[in-house]
Amino acid sequence: MSYDNNPETQINLSDNTPILVAVAWPYVNGDIHVGHIAGCFLSADIFARYNRLKGRPVLMVSGSDCHGTPITVAADKEKVTPQEIVDKYHPKVLNLIKTLEIEYELYTKTTTENHYKITQDLFVALAKNGYISKKVTPQYYSEKDNKFLPDRYVEGTCPFCGFEDSRSDQCDKCSSVIEEGKLIKPRSKNTGSPVEFKDTEHYFLDLDKFQLELENFVENKSYWREWVLAETKGWLKRGLYERSITRDLDWGIPIPTDRLPDELKLDGAENKRFYVWFDAVIGYLSASVEWSDMHKDNDGNLPKPWLDWKHYWYNEDARHYYFMGKDNLFFHTISWPAMLIGSDKNKQLPFYPAINNFLNLEGDKFSKSRGVVLYPEYVVENYGIDSLRYYLAKVMPENQDADWIWKDFVAANNNELVANFGNFVFRVLSFYKAHPELDPTKHILFAVDNTVQQEIKETFYEVGRLIEECKLAEALQRIMKLSSFGNKYFNDNEPWKVIKTSEMAASEAIYNCLTIIDNLRILLHPILPSAMNKLTRMLDYTDLIVPEVEINKWEYKPWNHEQKIEEFIEPLFKKFDEKEVLEKEKK
Ligand code: MF3
Ligand code: ZN
Repeated sequence: MSYDNNPETQINLSDNTPILVAVAWPYVNGDIHVGHIAGCFLSADIFARYNRLKGRPVLMVSGSDCHGTPITVAADKEKVTPQEIVDKYHPKVLNLIKTLEIEYELYTKTTTENHYKITQDLFVALAKNGYISKKVTPQYYSEKDNKFLPDRYVEGTCPFCGFEDSRSDQCDKCSSVIEEGKLIKPRSKNTGSPVEFKDTEHYFLDLDKFQLELENFVENKSYWREWVLAETKGWLKRGLYERSITRDLDWGIPIPTDRLPDELKLDGAENKRFYVWFDAVIGYLSASVEWSDMHKDNDGNLPKPWLDWKHYWYNEDARHYYFMGKDNLFFHTISWPAMLIGSDKNKQLPFYPAINNFLNLEGDKFSKSRGVVLYPEYVVENYGIDSLRYYLAKVMPENQDADWIWKDFVAANNNELVANFGNFVFRVLSFYKAHPELDPTKHILFAVDNTVQQEIKETFYEVGRLIEECKLAEALQRIMKLSSFGNKYFNDNEPWKVIKTSEMAASEAIYNCLTIIDNLRILLHPILPSAMNKLTRMLDYTDLIVPEVEINKWEYKPWNHEQKIEEFIEPLFKKFDEKEVLEKEKK
């Protein structure tokens, strides 16, 4: 079977399709909660790990989003400079990524020289191609503070849902993006005093000029999540208009006005910076270049073609998957594609925006100020990384908001991870360990049972297809079905009974079970890398699971008769006491 022609979708990835995994850049203004992990970190990681196992060249990039008012607000609050905020929180994100075993080719930040340069270059290209204009516009201005106030310093009432504490650019309650000037009763966030509009000149990206091309772009995207496509088409239907891409700020990337044609020069440009959303999305490109540069030898050459960023960006066979939360949709399905088209027609456009809804905590929105928080480090420390990754993959909010519910967390761990998969592995391995006479090399060579083989092959095929369509929760369910199958196979064949009459039949049953376990080890690796590495050691492989470009490891493989298993067998997962957990997490 091959994946290459899936008739239901247009997702036809070949074995060597280069895959760019572009993960939303988190603001480095504080701690990242489990909602973020479910939103994009984990989904991207599972998807990337799977593709690496397929032998595809994968480039997974992201970094810390260091500009914008989320950072300056944090700096004001902690009474430090924005740079100090970046220096404080960026290493924390790096640590968290390591703890969660999220494996990027590169996780960088938007304060690098490389990113500044590529952002400025892209802006100049857009300008030269006629997509940048300048306009005098009224901006929020506080008489009291004697300065222009950026979006996040202004609050007011949402024109869509009436929420009174809405941010000025986007409503926290209904997620609507709010156009400049449409916020009702705007006030300064710091002082509470009303703000007014005052004229200031800014650069605009002429999104309206991309209307047709973007309509064409989404034309054949019927394979996107339905709600993502609907929302994107909604933006197009309402019509696109110019959006300002600079702000009156001193934190951010400077505008290279000296490189612009005369008619685009602007007074006072030195006091302006790019709007954070303009530079952040360019990070996908600049991080790819940075990563490529890291692999150059002394002569500036790249040892392998797939270490070249152009292999992903200028290759029409490449596929770009983007992972993010739903509040990032507009910037990835509308403005970033427009920026790409407008700066250089030959670059690859987003292929699949894997956009997740929000994860809430027991029905409540995450909110630091209201104390609705749950940090991934806490969960890992108290319950282990595998239960965290398993549960988040299971409840992944792909098509609607989902909830972290402690009771369900315990149930998923106890009934699925432990009872279904963990116990199957432990029962088979410890039974085999207790009966060395079952060693398959001591019997005539047998082949893997046909039904078993078939079941495993189908699992690889179906799970692969589901992951390529970014249906990760469903993929996990499908894998667990193979584990249930294994459990049933072990129970039905009763090797502990059969061994009394036929050593060979018992050995054959164990051989089939080992085959199922060994294949589950690969299938579950993208979701549970830590546990699967542990299992790899117990099965006494000399190497952990290491993907290699051009070598497909995502396929059925019979258990090697010669292989011994490790002396030391232990359960992969621990059961939790529901009462204890609920008591502890009541707070
Ligand atoms: N920092 C933004 C957020 O947390 C996401 C930026 S994604 C980017 O919502 F790729 F555009 F940077
Ligand atoms: Zn609203």
